[in-house]
Amino acid sequence: MSKFKYQNLTGMHDILPTDQVFFKKINKVLEGVSHYYSFDKIETPIVEFAEVFSKAVGTDTDIVGKEMYTFRTKGQDLVCLRPEGTAPVMRSYLEHGMHNLPQPVKLWYVGPFFRYERPQAGRYRQFHQFGFEAVGDKNPSIDSQIIQMSYDVLKELGFKNITIEVNSIGDSECRPYFKKILTSYLKSKKSSLCSDCQRRLKENPLRILDCKEEKCQRVKAGAPQIIDHLCEACHAHFKQVLEFLDELELPYTLNPYLVRGLDYYTKTVFEIIETSETGTSLGTLIGGGRYDNLAKMLGGRDTPGCGSAGGIERIIEVMKAKEEKAGGSKKPEEAKIFLAQLGQMAKMKSMKLFEEFRTAKIPVAESFSKDSLKSQLRAADKMGAKWVLIFGQKEALENFITLRNMETGTKKEITLDKVVEEMKEKLKNNK
Ligand code: HAM
Repeated sequence: MSKFKYQNLTGMHDILPTDQVFFKKINKVLEGVSHYYSFDKIETPIVEFAEVFSKAVGTDTDIVGKEMYTFRTKGQDLVCLRPEGTAPVMRSYLEHGMHNLPQPVKLWYVGPFFRYERPQAGRYRQFHQFGFEAVGDKNPSIDSQIIQMSYDVLKELGFKNITIEVNSIGDSECRPYFKKILTSYLKSKKSSLCSDCQRRLKENPLRILDCKEEKCQRVKAGAPQIIDHLCEACHAHFKQVLEFLDELELPYTLNPYLVRGLDYYTKTVFEIIETSETGTSLGTLIGGGRYDNLAKMLGGRDTPGCGSAGGIERIIEVMKAKEEKAGGSKKPEEAKIFLAQLGQMAKMKSMKLFEEFRTAKIPVAESFSKDSLKSQLRAADKMGAKWVLIFGQKEALENFITLRNMETGTKKEITLDKVVEEMKEKLKNNK
């Protein structure tokens, strides 16, 4: 029998307390931006029918073709762990008849997603995404609003070197013709493509434009560009999106080869990338676009939509790298008061006092598991507490507490029923 090893599955990771600080910060920014733009929160299940994704994202895509965690339930339903959030949100919109609500229905989400990818920097098998989806509106102003919000999130998190790449990939009117001319160009270069792209040539030639292999990049450089072949409606839509982005002074660049790896996109697609000071890209942080055919692909009524999603682990990796460069992490707000106790009665009363501080929203550090006053004072000193409240045996009997100022060494006795109030004052005046 093989020996059990206590370790995570490949590509899955624990979010340890040190990382929770980042999650908390990102969540706060997301709540703020969503609230401001009137996006309401939605949570969909982690497990969905596999068809939600095979129909929407496409069976020829890497996400569905190679990376889905698919399995049969005991009831023989073919289900999967969700690899992305847009298809489930649209499924929910259709299922709950949200077309009856004022349009667009603006929703946001955050949570775990699963892709069986080859683990590498910034690529996990369980990762976290946040996303914004505006469903039920065709207007190009929605596209630019989604781009603005995505950009806002990174800006508020302190990102400086970010660029937005945009493109239009047309719709069912103009894309088939473009696919045809692209395929005939790529066929003429077939031997110069990587083996994956030679396969893609049949199934999904557009994806070849997205390939990161150097040999394919060379072929790509001479390929026809879809923006030269957009139909009138797609051209007008894209023009307006760009005009909005100009007006908003968002730093975008046109990337005529940006196609994104999911089948449901139509018209606008975009990605937000962080580039380090040296100019090297640290990968796509946020990606999105318009998906006017998605509802129909799921068998629902014709409903346009536009949205984006960001990878939280990737964002955190950049945030950490920045902190290291700036000389270490900023500590979260720490307690300035340390509550020390000596003896059983004092310990019990301290626990009650600690709870009173919590109700008064005053952060206090403690070490109830330690019995020696010396080790508690050492802990207080290590965390840089300004004040230590000492609750000894005498104090517990006579209902007072001794306050020691760690900076000046001065001491003071305070009656127990006044201590919360007095500490509140001290914190306010910082002395
Ligand atoms: P996506 O480009 O597949 O788009 O994923 C969005 C972001 O999730 C990526 O830019 C990346 O930051 C992060 N991400 C993707 N895969 C991984 C992974 N294996 N490990 C870590 N991070 C990852 C979508 O999922 C679309 N649903 C976006 C969208 C929303 N389009 C319209 N609305």
